[in-house]
Amino acid sequence: MRLLLTQDGTPTLFHPGYGEAYHPRQGALLQARRLYLEKTLTHLHPAPRVLEVGLGLLVNFRVTLESALRRGVRLRYLAVEREPLSPELLAQVSLPLAQGAAVWAEILRGWPRERFAGPWGELRVVFGDVREAPLPRGWATAVYLDPFSPRVNPEPWSLPVLKRLRGALRPGGRLATYSAQGAFRLALKEAGFALHRVPGVGKREWTVGIAAKVPRG
Ligand SMILES: C[S@@+](CC[C@H](N)C(=O)[O-])C[C@H]1O[C@@H](n2cnc3c(N)ncnc32)[C@H](O)[C@@H]1O
Repeated sequence: MRLLLTQDGTPTLFHPGYGEAYHPRQGALLQARRLYLEKTLTHLHPAPRVLEVGLGLLVNFRVTLESALRRGVRLRYLAVEREPLSPELLAQVSLPLAQGAAVWAEILRGWPRERFAGPWGELRVVFGDVREAPLPRGWATAVYLDPFSPRVNPEPWSLPVLKRLRGALRPGGRLATYSAQGAFRLALKEAGFALHRVPGVGKREWTVGIAAKVPRG
């Protein structure tokens, strides 16, 4: 697999099995910041606890780490990933994130491992399928839902998974994702989220779900 450049100058990867890239052509870093970090309000949270579905190239993690380090807050990050990439490939993912460089180097030295920790916080990775992965209850302040699209990678967008993600969020916690697909949005509401359509960058709409209601079932 070969890295490609997105329009903001940051790299992505094309996955031949899914027939899609890991990030939108408008920018890997751009999406990580404007959608996942900011639309979940993680960039303002004093004690962020992020649950990510699809760790991929760790762009979202590194952007979130950078924000936490700049603000002097401790980050707790739990990710589910069923197809971890090699440390050799991840080492080529160069991002302009200076504060997190030392932590990133430490993670690369140990990758793949289930837990990394330091004064900066903690990264835990569940290597498996989100349909079966053990998830904490009422823990996350944010969910980054970032699998491939519902068309080619339907499982993580399904009602049973969305109910599990709702259960993992604290009340008021936010889920963000790039998809605006109708069936997914209906399932999100059914899973107990208040649905918000937000303007996307390079895309008409993104989706934010707020864990406002008591989850059903
Ligand atoms: C779009 S990429 C994620 C990009 C990543 N968030 C980043 O910041 O670089 C989608 C990821 O979801 C993972 N994935 C797809 N289906 C999954 C599932 N059912 N369970 C766990 N991970 C899954 C893929 O292996 C892939 O790494």
